[in-house]
Amino acid sequence: MIKGKVADLLESTQYLQEVQVKGWVRSFRSNRFIALNDGSTINNLQCVVDFEKMNEELLKRITVGAAIKVTGTLQESLGSGQKVEIQASSIDILGDADPEEVKLTILSPKRHSLEKLREQAHLRVRTNTFGAVMRLRSKLSYAVHSYFQQNNFHYVNTPIITGSDAEGAGEMFKVTSFDLENPPKNEDGSINFKEDFFGKETNLTVSGQLEAETYALGLGQVYTFGPTFRAENSNTSRHLAEFWMVEPEMAFCDLDGNMDIAEDFIKYVLKYILENCKDDLAFLEQRLANEDKAKPEAERSPMSLTDKLKFVIENNFKRVSYTEAIEILKNSKPNKKKKFNYIIEEWGADLQSEHERYLVEKHFKCPVILFDYPANIKAFYMRLNEDGKTVRAMDILFPGIGEIVGGSQREERLDVLKQKMQALGIDEKELWWYLDTRKFGTCVHSGFGLGFERLVQFATGMSNIRDVIPFPRTPLNAEF
Ligand code: 4AD
Ligand code: MG
Repeated sequence: MIKGKVADLLESTQYLQEVQVKGWVRSFRSNRFIALNDGSTINNLQCVVDFEKMNEELLKRITVGAAIKVTGTLQESLGSGQKVEIQASSIDILGDADPEEVKLTILSPKRHSLEKLREQAHLRVRTNTFGAVMRLRSKLSYAVHSYFQQNNFHYVNTPIITGSDAEGAGEMFKVTSFDLENPPKNEDGSINFKEDFFGKETNLTVSGQLEAETYALGLGQVYTFGPTFRAENSNTSRHLAEFWMVEPEMAFCDLDGNMDIAEDFIKYVLKYILENCKDDLAFLEQRLANEDKAKPEAERSPMSLTDKLKFVIENNFKRVSYTEAIEILKNSKPNKKKKFNYIIEEWGADLQSEHERYLVEKHFKCPVILFDYPANIKAFYMRLNEDGKTVRAMDILFPGIGEIVGGSQREERLDVLKQKMQALGIDEKELWWYLDTRKFGTCVHSGFGLGFERLVQFATGMSNIRDVIPFPRTPLNAEF
């Protein structure tokens, strides 16, 4: 007897073999045809039941959502739609699903909105859409590791609890073991963190970069890939309070090298899923096409999902300096007609997602890498250019997503770094270890951070970031 997963059995040609398979009932038609899914693939396995020979009580318990074990023979299917099916000889109910209760959940067989599915995030992975998205997410994450491992990068696990604010934006969740009603106080009434668990103020990390840098300056090329946390109150379709970031860091690599690696990396992982997630992609492509049909003509995507992926893989990303981008935006129609929410008036303005999307979707019509941003809109660790006013930063902008990568060449000169920190009021004592790396064999080095969920959004065509992570954390929402 072969005990198999649906994915394997559907590919099998071992007809007339006895097989056993376990999964959840997706549908049960005419008291005869069970569509069984076990999560191994988007496709269901048809199990044919000889109802005349089956116990009636048992038949009643084959309901949508129930977990069952089917034993039977694998045979070529007579029906259209599948190559093989199982002629069931016996069925065991492993876990019942009461139809009356199922009716009240998203497992009930009718169309549910993505918003509704979010309310039952513990069940939504049983739907085709979320099964496909989550399998694809898993494969993408495998591709991330595979790219770096093949290219001589070492995986480092940077800390999740930290005392520093890498991005300096102050959007951090605090970590403490104090009784919040009654924390120990200093004489001046402030909280005495010396008595806290770590003997200092700590928070959840917003980025593993600073620690990754210290490792790159020893292991050469490293990457971290872990959860990061931001307490920014952004209720958008592209922001989470807890998200996963891929952060490579390379010694002896300048900004051009950084852009080359980022572009090559993104193309590799997208190519990987094009080749390895065909069924899920086909489903998601159709889902997106259906969603598009409901939209007004002007908002519809001119390309199918796989065409979009191929377009990114096959074309060079357009590299444009911030200064050039500002000129383009200043002279753009929406800017002149005051259609942007934030009008671009002069050099130095921070770009909003409406500007980024204009550049990518309307002007260049391809992924764009913007580089050499004004120093004062970027983080302290970026390398100052000779002009004294721009830094060696780069952001990669994607259609439909906006910023997907943020990175830079790092300031490797101790004196310049110290000046920068002083100007921004960053305490040297807090980052003594970071500054140390600039004293002992400092070198040109670079890295970037890719928002993993934004990548999954692009690869799956899901428009809301809450639908590409199993349990989204957003303002006022930490259910499950
Ligand atoms: O541009 P960011 O803030 O860069 C850094 O954190 C650097 N320390 C990375 C580095 O150089 N090692 O964030 C990097 C990326 C963004 O481009 C975006 O894709 C994603 O992380 N990101 C978010 N994704 C989801 N929700 C949020 N709230 C995000 N904030 C940033
Ligand atoms: Mg950024």
